[in-house]
Amino acid sequence: MTDSLETIQNDTKQCEQDEQHIDPWTVKGSSKGFDYLKLLTQFGTKPITPELIERIERATNMRVHRLLRRGIFFSQQYLEDFLTHYESGKQCFLYTGRGPSSSALHLGHMIPFEFTKYLQDAFGCILVVQMSDDEKFYFKGGKLDDYINYGKENALDIISVGFNPEKTYIFSNFNEIARGNSGLWRNFVEMSENTPVNRVRSMFGLNEMSITTDENGNTKPSAEPCSVGMLAWPVFQSIPCLASSFQFIFGSDPDNDTKIFNFVPMAVDQSPYFRMMNDYCGHKKIFKPAQIHSEFLIGLGGKNSKMSSTESIQPIFLTDTEEEIRQKIRVCFSGGRDTKREHLELGADLTIDVPYQWLLVFMESDEELEEIAKKYGPPNSNGDVKMMSSDIKKILTDVILKYVKEHQEKRNAITEEVFDHYFNPNRYFNLERPTREPLEPLSNEEYQKQGCNFDRYFGLYKTN
Ligand code: TRP
Repeated sequence: MTDSLETIQNDTKQCEQDEQHIDPWTVKGSSKGFDYLKLLTQFGTKPITPELIERIERATNMRVHRLLRRGIFFSQQYLEDFLTHYESGKQCFLYTGRGPSSSALHLGHMIPFEFTKYLQDAFGCILVVQMSDDEKFYFKGGKLDDYINYGKENALDIISVGFNPEKTYIFSNFNEIARGNSGLWRNFVEMSENTPVNRVRSMFGLNEMSITTDENGNTKPSAEPCSVGMLAWPVFQSIPCLASSFQFIFGSDPDNDTKIFNFVPMAVDQSPYFRMMNDYCGHKKIFKPAQIHSEFLIGLGGKNSKMSSTESIQPIFLTDTEEEIRQKIRVCFSGGRDTKREHLELGADLTIDVPYQWLLVFMESDEELEEIAKKYGPPNSNGDVKMMSSDIKKILTDVILKYVKEHQEKRNAITEEVFDHYFNPNRYFNLERPTREPLEPLSNEEYQKQGCNFDRYFGLYKTN
């Protein structure tokens, strides 16, 4: 494992201009977009198989989230071990986080959280959310208090997702240590003692040079020296995987880290942290966290970048007005053809069409999606091309407007009391697992179409 990671670092450094580069600081696809299958081999993780999906449904008595069904969460590590632990009725918890680099979240930021909400409902377990204000201060500079405040702003958006108030703890990293969470601090000290600087350097590309932020808010290597804070940071993102970091939730049993299994949902660029955690857990002989990784939401400008504020078309922010959203979608990159005649003859190229790719993420119903693919994509046995770019953009606009409107309503309804509750360590945490009516499993044939086997284009691009 270690070797292959070192190789990745070298590979990515030497990579040609047109190769993809994915780490916590840089996310760039090749001109063909992102190659996620390549990441499975590079990172040594496993795909989300139909068998795994079936097992999750049996264990939770709940249908899996569309992002799992469609293979957008595409990669995992130690998920089987997590399920074995969970199936035997033992204690588990979820961990994810957010780096509060600005007050505005965009739609791409919501994907891991929406998915995490499903996981919390399905597994009925505790969730801890790290607001890494310190991280953004180390890497972006400026004023520490600004990041602490962005953390509060962002937490409102996260709370709006609807996490169970009895089972969710949100914390500012800075304040968590300041208030004296000794379990978390002890884990920081113990893991720091055990983690070689060279390991952090090679895994995260933090060499003598540091990472800075350009005028667009994009992080990139600079000639500035790498700071102690930057080098220390990866340990801090890793330790909330341990139940012993949250003794006020899970109690102070010294064996908790071999009794309580952690599961981390994240976008795939965050995975290096948890591979580093695997080394430490191996050394301490405690549970390695299960991980699940998502693809990125592509930018409105096209397939080879994730949505970010450095793009030519600005992301859709959760604070955008209806008119702003309509305008951004109106101009987004389309896989439709240049002339109407050509379009009717060939259909859109769905593989590069931003509205279609977004509907894959945001539209709930597979049936509706299939219908759109067949009307808008290449002509097929079911008929001719019946849909233009403007039609699919209209469908996407409706879906996104609904999403953002509902989000804004939920956000506005959060009272100060509710907000404080999520951050309060001194209150009741519900560790009980809910019981649910048994769920009728789907047929094997149905499962075989899901996860890594999900056909995003409903047979339209199959040669046989
Ligand atoms: N580093 C992440 C970011 O920049 C934030 C984060 C902190 C996180 N802890 C995490 C993400 C755990 C996933 C899982 O946004």
